[in-house]
Amino acid sequence: MLAFKKQIGYLLSPLTGLDPEEITSLLEVPPEPGLGEYAFPCYILARSQKRPPQVISAELAAKIEPADYMEKAKSAGPYLNFYINKAHLFSRLLPEIIELGPGYGHSDVGQGRTVVIDYSAPNIAKPFGIGHLRSTVIGSSLYRLYQAMGYRVVGINHLGDWGTQFGKLITAYRRWGDSSRLEKDPVHYLFDLYVLFHKEAEKDPNLEEEARSWFRNLEMNDAEAVELWERFRSLSLAEFKRLYNFLGIHFDSYQGESFYNNLLEETIKKVVDKGLAKESQGALIVDLEPYGMPPCLLRKKDGATLYITRDLAAAIYRYEQYRFHKLLYVVGSEQTLHFKQLFKILELMGYHWAQNCVHIPFGLIHFKEGRMSTREGRIVFLEDVLNRALELAHNIIKEKNPDLVDKEKAARMVGLGAVIFGDLINDRVKDIEFDWDKVLDFSGETAPYVQYAHARISSIFRKAAQEGEDLSSFAAQNLAALQEKGFLTSPEEEQLVITLARFSEQVAQAAEGYRPSYVARYLVELARDFNKFYHNCPVLGTDEDLRKVRLMLIKGVQIVLRNGLELLGIEAPEEM
Ligand code: ARG
Repeated sequence: MLAFKKQIGYLLSPLTGLDPEEITSLLEVPPEPGLGEYAFPCYILARSQKRPPQVISAELAAKIEPADYMEKAKSAGPYLNFYINKAHLFSRLLPEIIELGPGYGHSDVGQGRTVVIDYSAPNIAKPFGIGHLRSTVIGSSLYRLYQAMGYRVVGINHLGDWGTQFGKLITAYRRWGDSSRLEKDPVHYLFDLYVLFHKEAEKDPNLEEEARSWFRNLEMNDAEAVELWERFRSLSLAEFKRLYNFLGIHFDSYQGESFYNNLLEETIKKVVDKGLAKESQGALIVDLEPYGMPPCLLRKKDGATLYITRDLAAAIYRYEQYRFHKLLYVVGSEQTLHFKQLFKILELMGYHWAQNCVHIPFGLIHFKEGRMSTREGRIVFLEDVLNRALELAHNIIKEKNPDLVDKEKAARMVGLGAVIFGDLINDRVKDIEFDWDKVLDFSGETAPYVQYAHARISSIFRKAAQEGEDLSSFAAQNLAALQEKGFLTSPEEEQLVITLARFSEQVAQAAEGYRPSYVARYLVELARDFNKFYHNCPVLGTDEDLRKVRLMLIKGVQIVLRNGLELLGIEAPEEM
């Protein structure tokens, strides 16, 4: 489809005086089938030409000659609709998909430029909750998407491993701590301590002051404070890493908040030297009122630094380190103001690259229990979610496919897939209502639905191989010749090929718009088109040529399903 778009650009450019790139960016997808694959809105030209758009559209339509992908151009009111030559498409597309295999859908627009992605970033000493799961799966998919677009990607886990919560934890641990419980289950135990601290602090307000003073000690390198902090950090990190491993998620760096501690003085000095900071009641602030934002606190009056101070240092460090083309922060929408302030201060400091920093916000995730709050202890643990996913998937698979040999493996792929896909298919910025029945529904807009289409195709190929079908020479087949015999012309087949052809464009748009949901939605459509095809068009029980063409077609579908799932961080089972 990209090739078709390009061709439209080249054909229309001399006729309109617009750049080919401009034309392709103006192309729209017609709202209903039968209107061609792309439409060019002629009212864009109406003003400069001082003529009605429908006249321009009719005139252009008469001038477009069919060639290659171009079957015809037809005027429809102010729009000029383009119809793709399906025979031409089929004969190029399928061999290309099969030849490129896992690389199909990728491009080199990135040209090796660097994109840094800050994602996941759970807070040590608070559990890895389901809220951080959103950042993790969205960030990890963006990582894969940008890599597929030819960028060098650096994934950073900006661990929440510094801050006043450590004062609270140290206080709680020194008063009530139990070393063996800490070793045994650090994440849950530290969370229990955190909750306990807040409960006790309601009765005894002195605790808050004690916690502040322990955090101060920590910032002053007090040996006892540092030792406890180290212990909390390393135990929690080991636990997080285990979960990432299980989820198949990768980071290039775990430089969290504490990493920037020795850069903070320098960073604050830079802000001061630019004349941006001022004292206010003993604290150091940046006044952002001229930009319609509340002031930003850089240093409290007791000398303690803040989350945003560390983020300032981190951004500057990252630019020096990576010279990024873009720096993406995958963080919930509740931190929108934080990032606006951060980017504004960087801009005021004169960093031209501040404009390449992007906050990628996302909405909340609701379980039936209501909004999760770390302080009150009502929280859904990621680990529990994953265990439940595996268990439910296992039950379903046992029932649907009792003969399957490795049910554990299939349950892992399907269970994790369901959780990841159940998140990614949603428009990122919207809140999600997480419902187990919905994400595991084999006929819904879910991972299992897409995975099942993939497994089904794999099983067709297993059978074909048993029947002695030689699949190796497929790409060499002269598809065009077969196509001339009238193959692949049923509506289901045509639809399936057209959908296949859209993949590369969807991937590019998902990366550009920071929206893995485009890929997820696309995969549901492709699986649906495949199912319709499969329902109406037998593959194996047909005569030789037709069988070859159809096998080639579903090979293409299998590759695209697999590549698409891969971009979301989901595995494609051979059987399930
Ligand atoms: N740890 C933070 C939180 O859980 C998220 C950090 C995001 N990254 C950043 N550079 N601020 O809220």
